Amino acid sequence: MSSVNRFFTRVLIPLDGSASSVKAAGYTLRLAEHEGCEVIAVHVADEQIAEELARYADCPVEAVVERMKQSGAGYIDDVRQKGQEKGVKVTGEVLVGIPHQVVLAMAAEKKADLIVMGKVGRKGPRRVLIGSVTERVIEQSSVPVLVVK
Ligand SMILES: Nc1ncnc2c1ncn2[C@@H]1O[C@H](COP(=O)(O)OP(=O)(O)OP(=O)(O)O)[C@@H](O)[C@H]1O
Ligand SMILES: [Mg+2]
Repeated sequence: MSSVNRFFTRVLIPLDGSASSVKAAGYTLRLAEHEGCEVIAVHVADEQIAEELARYADCPVEAVVERMKQSGAGYIDDVRQKGQEKGVKVTGEVLVGIPHQVVLAMAAEKKADLIVMGKVGRKGPRRVLIGSVTERVIEQSSVPVLVVK
């Protein structure tokens, strides 16, 4: 699709390794293939969870963050590989912080015009409608958010 008719240019896809975010990534790649847009994947190593885990396991918080970063790099690599098969450019970053804050900052920094995320995350389906990261991003984002069920 020519860049003049393109509806979305840069799509941000927050990944947490959940089935829901993998599904969201699948939708994003199909959209990107059709629209010719760029995909930016992000995983946030959650600093609050890292602190809790480190306290619980009695190990240095840096070690926990490192493991989280490695997992995050894996989630991004999976999407990058699937993108390559479709001829879609996928870039990615693993950052440390509070997930919704980092996602929103990244969307602004990269000038993303769409965010695609899972309805739920690693905690999975339960009584509440959507996960807290998705809820906060919807609430605070200045660009459209596509939530994949
Ligand atoms: N650490 C993270 N880094 C990047 N994206 C994330 C992260 N956590 C969640 N997401 C994104 O948000 C979506 C919804 O996950 P969310 O964390 O909101 O729900 P949950 O894990 O089911 O519940 P909780 O609110 O308890 O975390 C995921 O599918 C993913 O797209
Ligand atoms: Mg979560």
